Amino acid sequence: MKTIGVLTSGGDSPGMNAAIRAVVRYGVRNGLKVFGIERGYCGLIDGAIKELNFASVAGIMEKGGTILRTSRCGEFFTREGREKAANQLAKFGIEGLVVIGGEGSLTGSVTFHKEFGVPVIGVPGTIDNDIAHTDMCIGVDTCLNTVVDAIQKLKDTATSHERAFIVEVMGRESGYIALMSAIATGAEAAIIPEVPIDFDQLAERLLEERKRGKLNCIVVVAEGAGKAEEVARKISNKIGYETRISILGHIQRGGSPTAFDRLLATRMGVRAVQALLDGEKCATTVLKSGQITLIDTEEVISTKKKLDLSLYEMCMTLS
Ligand code: F6P
Repeated sequence: MKTIGVLTSGGDSPGMNAAIRAVVRYGVRNGLKVFGIERGYCGLIDGAIKELNFASVAGIMEKGGTILRTSRCGEFFTREGREKAANQLAKFGIEGLVVIGGEGSLTGSVTFHKEFGVPVIGVPGTIDNDIAHTDMCIGVDTCLNTVVDAIQKLKDTATSHERAFIVEVMGRESGYIALMSAIATGAEAAIIPEVPIDFDQLAERLLEERKRGKLNCIVVVAEGAGKAEEVARKISNKIGYETRISILGHIQRGGSPTAFDRLLATRMGVRAVQALLDGEKCATTVLKSGQITLIDTEEVISTKKKLDLSLYEMCMTLS
């Protein structure tokens, strides 16, 4: 293999730039020509492709977002779109791809590989941490730190006004961000899609705590489990606290990556290029027991990632 391409796809996540840097520099060091593909699969279809070198990725490690930009590309879901993408690869002489993105991006990579035989290595980048077989995805740690910082600030005002805050966080169908941030901030409860919630029971518990003299109350809701407004409507008149809601939104996706995310992204980026050089066809880099290894991408996308529910018990027990 002499020429490879790299793209970022789906929701951006902090650390994607560190992964791009690693792919480009490790590739170039190993004699490869490396092309950057802009706007994910959309740029692949349109031919928004340019060669990258050592200098083009200088100083990007600490930047949030992705210098290649990204998209959720509807056209790539069509056979016609994927055919255009394959033609662009042939035009630029690109023999292998590194796709940095979430579940949808990895799913697209499998279909593309099956149809056109192009070797594609996936690198899991999403704040949701909903990709099976990897302990962590790129961006999760930075996101959690952002969420914890925001909740901590909300706690200050909650205490000052003796209020409850219902904080809605992202995560798609996963309660990972909600649960981990609830544990890390000592929130009163996490409401997550994986565990049904009894609102009357929760309200009773919060009222008891209020009566015992607790000055604030934080409930973290995963977007996949419901809306902060809805939760507030269900419990606010029963819990004894004046209640406010806060939807953290896209600030969870931005910001300079933490050291953990930079390291994870760098290690996965290097492993992805090694995989292409070793002749791997359709695999994803994963973090397992501290090691970066490869798992067949079809296996990754066909497995549902399970949340460790003992952590849910821990969250509710300690609050
Ligand atoms: O997958 C990352 C994520 O931020 C999810 O947590 C969220 O549901 C979704 O993307 C939001 O997507 P968009 O930025 O397209 O609104």
